[in-house]
Amino acid sequence: MDYLLENKRKSNFSKKILLAAALTALLVFVIKRPPVISPSTKFSEHEPGVTHVLVTGGAGYIGSHAVLRLLKDSYRVTIVDNLSRGNMGAVKILQELYPEPGRLQFIYADLGDAQAVNRVFSENAFDAVMHFAAVAYVGESTVEPLRYYHNITSNTLQIVKAMSAHGVKTLIYSSTCATYGEPEKMPITENTPQVPINPYGKAKKMAEDIIIDFSKTSDMAVMILRYFNVIGSDPLGRLGESPRPELREQGRISGACFDAARGIIPGLKVRGIDYKTADGTCVRDYIDVTDLIDAHVKALAHAKPSKVGIYNVGTGKGSSVREFVEACKKATGVDIKVEYLSRRAGDYAEVYSDPSKINIELNWTATYTNLQQSLTTAWKWQKAHLNGYET
Ligand SMILES: NC(=O)c1ccc[n+]([C@@H]2O[C@H](COP(=O)([O-])OP(=O)(O)OC[C@H]3O[C@@H](n4cnc5c(N)ncnc54)[C@H](O)[C@@H]3O)[C@@H](O)[C@H]2O)c1
Repeated sequence: MDYLLENKRKSNFSKKILLAAALTALLVFVIKRPPVISPSTKFSEHEPGVTHVLVTGGAGYIGSHAVLRLLKDSYRVTIVDNLSRGNMGAVKILQELYPEPGRLQFIYADLGDAQAVNRVFSENAFDAVMHFAAVAYVGESTVEPLRYYHNITSNTLQIVKAMSAHGVKTLIYSSTCATYGEPEKMPITENTPQVPINPYGKAKKMAEDIIIDFSKTSDMAVMILRYFNVIGSDPLGRLGESPRPELREQGRISGACFDAARGIIPGLKVRGIDYKTADGTCVRDYIDVTDLIDAHVKALAHAKPSKVGIYNVGTGKGSSVREFVEACKKATGVDIKVEYLSRRAGDYAEVYSDPSKINIELNWTATYTNLQQSLTTAWKWQKAHLNGYET
């Protein structure tokens, strides 16, 4: 009996020794092992010398071009987009161009989802935000105003709150000349009163106000860029503008011109020929996307804590819709059929910028100022991507 008991005690003791040895070996292995760097770690920690930019709406037209330029300039980029209007195809191209760990990550999230936005900010270490994400069609905003106030104004409030809560100190905001409405005096300077006349412009103005009021209570560095009409695409043909087919009706003039040139639509509908302009059609200031993104990079470089910089981003020269259509005919080589219709609700006659403030303060000047040239570049991408990013 004693002998059995003694044997059992011995066997328990050996088991304990073995267990302790195994635990010690495991501990030594864990301590000695180099840390496993998960792909997201580079995004979740600040790195000296690396500026990590959150690009909201980075799957969209302008946002994707911004991401391309930021990556080229060695920034670390996180795209947040709900793909409601953007293209995963654009993100894939950017990922293929910059596959190295810590360069680019894509996060699928809706900026209207406060929890998701807070998670994005708590899991990542951003140094700056470029906030592009928005619904952005004047006509649509007159039909669905609440959608615009929610998507633009309320989501911007959400972004600013998250930036404040997580100590992100620099914001570059995508605003628009639509915040000026229809000023009596041209060209538009940054001091031109903002009297927007459609929900899109009003929602953007409210978002600006939120940002400006918040900045008075914080040391956030803010740059608000009011774009005029954006055209063109990456000169090397890697990215383009590819709105959803269902948005064609809402679409911008360049998209409509290209659709007409490709025969997707029978011709071009020019809305309004009785405006008080030289040829009766609306006059707009067309800014090439490459120049626009250059303005963002310069704005980021010049952003100063506790300061708000507000800049028009345009060429300073207006072109009429008729002139635009002629340039588009030359760029595409197609004699596009044009139908002239009555005015569209929410449109204004003449809008062009005075870009001298950004010229002087940020040393920025538009360089892609030949309408036909910008359209030729965009047309090349369109022809090579007949199904947009699906091709
Ligand atoms: N295109 C122009 O001529 C022009 C002129 C002035 C200002 N802007 C401004 O520039 C910005 C970008 O415009 P764009 O022409 O590239 O538009 P776009 O539709 O191509 O891109 C917008 C992107 O934002 C994303 N998005 C929209 N709502 C979102 C949400 N709730 N959560 C996450 N992602 C969301 C879309 O999926 C899309 O990828 C907008 O803020 C717009 O108001 C554009």
